[in-house]
Amino acid sequence: MSAAKRGPAQSPAQRAAELRGALGHHAHRYYVLDDPEIGDEQYDGLLDELREIEADHPELVRPDSPTQRVGAEPVSDLVKVRHPQPMLSLANARSAEQLRAWIQRMRNFLAREGIEDPDFQFVAEPKIDGLAISLIYRDGVLERGATRGNGEVGEDVTHNLRTIGAIPLRLKSIDAPALIEVRGEAYMSLPDFAALNERRAQAGLSTFMNPRNSAAGTIRQLDPKLAAGRPLSFWAYGIGASEGLSFDTHWEALGWLGENRFPVHPDVALLRSEDEVVERCRSWEQRRGSLQFEIDGVVVKLNHVELQRRLGVVGREPRSAIAWKFPPTTAVTLLKGVGWNPGKFGDLHPYAMLEPVKVGGVRIKLATLHNEEDLARKDIREGEQVIVLRAGDVIPQVISPAPHVAEQIDRPPPPHPPKQCPSCWTGTAKAPGSVFTRCPNRDCPGRRWQLLKHFAGAIDIDGLGEKQVSLFMELGWVRTAADFYRLTAEQIAEQTGFGEVSAGKLVAAIQRSKRQPFARVMNALGIEEVGYVTARNLAQRFRSIDALLAATPAEIEQTPGVGPKMAATIHAQLTDEHMRSLIEALRAQGLYLRQEGPAPGEGPLARQTFVLTGTLPELTREQATEMIAAAGGRVTGSVSRKTAYLVAGDSPGSKLAQAERLGVRVLDEDGLRSLLQ
Ligand code: IVH
Repeated sequence: MSAAKRGPAQSPAQRAAELRGALGHHAHRYYVLDDPEIGDEQYDGLLDELREIEADHPELVRPDSPTQRVGAEPVSDLVKVRHPQPMLSLANARSAEQLRAWIQRMRNFLAREGIEDPDFQFVAEPKIDGLAISLIYRDGVLERGATRGNGEVGEDVTHNLRTIGAIPLRLKSIDAPALIEVRGEAYMSLPDFAALNERRAQAGLSTFMNPRNSAAGTIRQLDPKLAAGRPLSFWAYGIGASEGLSFDTHWEALGWLGENRFPVHPDVALLRSEDEVVERCRSWEQRRGSLQFEIDGVVVKLNHVELQRRLGVVGREPRSAIAWKFPPTTAVTLLKGVGWNPGKFGDLHPYAMLEPVKVGGVRIKLATLHNEEDLARKDIREGEQVIVLRAGDVIPQVISPAPHVAEQIDRPPPPHPPKQCPSCWTGTAKAPGSVFTRCPNRDCPGRRWQLLKHFAGAIDIDGLGEKQVSLFMELGWVRTAADFYRLTAEQIAEQTGFGEVSAGKLVAAIQRSKRQPFARVMNALGIEEVGYVTARNLAQRFRSIDALLAATPAEIEQTPGVGPKMAATIHAQLTDEHMRSLIEALRAQGLYLRQEGPAPGEGPLARQTFVLTGTLPELTREQATEMIAAAGGRVTGSVSRKTAYLVAGDSPGSKLAQAERLGVRVLDEDGLRSLLQ
């Protein structure tokens, strides 16, 4: 689908509908297929255009508009809602024998009903460990989303489900059924879960025990802004109630879901024999640890809807489906000791040293404990048995003492942070109000390693990971981030295991990072409490490192998202001599320490919107975009009456015709250059 074209006689209502359609299509390409057709900037351009139309014509705002994903008002309470059809649960099988017995039970049951030797087909799906969700679409538009609750009555969480990009706000079919209930699992992916817990631990907040709890906590938030900040995903696995649409098989229902842009896992399979089913369940079990999300089993469903109906329900469980459950991902083992590692600000992070144990097929001897308070809350002691959890690729964690351990009278004392830093032996101290005990030594090698690792990641140097940072530190080549820029390919190739080509590549990547914008450099410096968003806000507000260095805490506090406490912390760190000398050393290496281009709303082209189309003779799209942004202008994806200029190159396509129709000025590359001069 193209990025939507505006026809000559199109009304705002028609244009808005077209934009909603195009945005729905592109959200599907991005969130569900992971294969976007357009860049973020073009997508934002379309979204901006729709926002503009809706601002001018509030009567055109629809609940299925992509502008409404975030932005709903917080709700005061979660409202209880009755499901149109009960949400059932599943019987379990834990072995191939139990699975075969289930199939035999179905045969016996049907035989008693007079159905001899039915032709069984099965569908095997991952059993996602998240939260069951019901989504009701009326006349094709998402009307309500609810949690499972007790199966009969759940809670209305539409406001949060709308923030999940993978959930369509409108069905694609032109002849959408009057009503259809889509069921599936909302979940948090393992990388998103790990990143969320990392952020929470840094902020001194309690961490979530597993992705499931984290997803459940997020979905039940009252304020959709909170949910939007904690990325959730969704897999669709079935249809509940429906009016005006029915399917002969479950496989057809899954096909319909896919066609209507719902995410259905690509490895869901239609199987024709018991053996195939068993084999498939085993293969999911094998893949379990390499998936991006947690599964706790495989759901096997009988394919034919008529047979499902004949088999019926026993208690709360349909006879026609079963969950093949995997062994748990937790294990009990001995906590041999608690170790402590300095983080990039010297804060000591506890970790568990365990008697090696196999969890979900992987041998584990280390696990994270997040922070001191987490450790105290969990009440675990060295020398006792503990429960460890390993979820997919996420670092294993200790959850709690083993059952009954906490009730014993004669327990060892709780672990305490060391009085000396385990990396440099400097005396440690705990700042009042902090959840961390700290190593105050700015030269502590453990702390430096963390800072250097952070710098390499934040400034995006390909090939400079943990191992390389350790190696360069051990060789005494790198003490601060500025030292990376002095490394030469010859030096690396001669004295390390690197080949000449890879040493050359690494040095080129390091040198390339000098062109990263100021906001990235600011983030990479490793200023406490400053993540990328704050770094970007600081860069935008102060425009140069010198202006920021000269600022008072009160001035820093004027930055969006910065409160008084944070402003004081930022100020104190910037005035620190180590930080000053790092900044000067990076300046000497030629990194950007000022914002290129004018402040938002300033510059010769301030508030002017440009659209690029076709191939320009010399400039790439990125270069042209940067030049326009440097003069204060903005580049969007589609031509509207608010577009100031269309910059057209070779094969401009429909945008040129559109600009001409709307009377938008058209420039070629030379025209753009002279405008910018
Ligand atoms: S089918 C009766 N399919 O498992 C049919 N459920 O124990 C029930 N689940 O509450 C739903 N992945 O939260 C089904 N592919 C899948 C599933 C799945 C996860 C969860 C769901 C449900 C629980 C049933």
